[in-house]
Amino acid sequence: MIYKKNKLLIDRLIVENLAKKFSTPLYCYSYKKLRENILNIQNNFKKINPLICFAVKSNSNIKILKEIKKLELGADVVSIGELMKVLKAGIKPQKIVFSGVGKTQTEIEYAINKKILLINAESKSEILEIEKIAKFKKKKINIGIRLNPNTDAKTISQISTGKKENKFGVDKKTFLDLVLYVNKSKNLSLKCLSVHIGSQILNNKPYSKMLKIIDKIIKKSNHVFEYIDLGGGMGIDYAHNNNKFNLKEYSLNIQKFLKKNNSKIIFEPGRSIIGNTAILISKIIYIKKGYKKRFCYFG
Ligand SMILES: Cc1ncc(COP(=O)(O)O)c(C=O)c1O
Repeated sequence: MIYKKNKLLIDRLIVENLAKKFSTPLYCYSYKKLRENILNIQNNFKKINPLICFAVKSNSNIKILKEIKKLELGADVVSIGELMKVLKAGIKPQKIVFSGVGKTQTEIEYAINKKILLINAESKSEILEIEKIAKFKKKKINIGIRLNPNTDAKTISQISTGKKENKFGVDKKTFLDLVLYVNKSKNLSLKCLSVHIGSQILNNKPYSKMLKIIDKIIKKSNHVFEYIDLGGGMGIDYAHNNNKFNLKEYSLNIQKFLKKNNSKIIFEPGRSIIGNTAILISKIIYIKKGYKKRFCYFG
């Protein structure tokens, strides 16, 4: 988005003209920026060769999902609706992971039928439910277990998800018990350890801490995880003061981690792909003089 001769442009189109053509309010996305963000992540993590699954909760517009598919990303979904949408957008089931704390029986059945890559379970009750369904279908289902590493992401408390008081994932002791349980199951195959410690993280320290914890627990579990799903959370520079998350540093930390653990890395970025790609165009419809300030009403 830039100003040229006093006109705001998005991907070389004059915003004012878009407002006239499509009327307002209007969300307008920059394909150029979307592509740039994805290439930036892909390039910085090239040495890791990860599976990058776009966190659909950050934007589920089918047109965006189709573009994301063209740029070879997979998807991280948290509901049957999101799953249906990404399949409709053409994303291959083997590039889809299903996260979230409250998957219903219908959602688990649908995910199994569609043969997605992984269902990342968040509790023992959920694992038992997946196992029950898999047994009924006489299938062996690939799952991940989400670890709650008790790591402070040093971000806004409402979007911090990796501390022990948060509802997400299971603690270390439960994790190790569940590894033993799943390994004995005839209908479950433990493929992945997943984590997601929070959103809008701008510093690498919480991630480094998280990687150390994962490393330790993998050793303790004595299990070879085909996938390590590190979630999303990479922050963006809202204030335009060059306070950017250092992807290169994160990549180097992961490369060190991978020297000890031979797994495929999965990322679930949302905000860092979509957060700075759009503008909401609206017009001032009314102005009201209030008691202390003037109010503008947009539409
Ligand atoms: C499990 C999981 N993965 C990925 C994300 C995406 O996070 P972000 O948009 O910060 O990259 C979230 C966000 O809440 C999440 O809960």
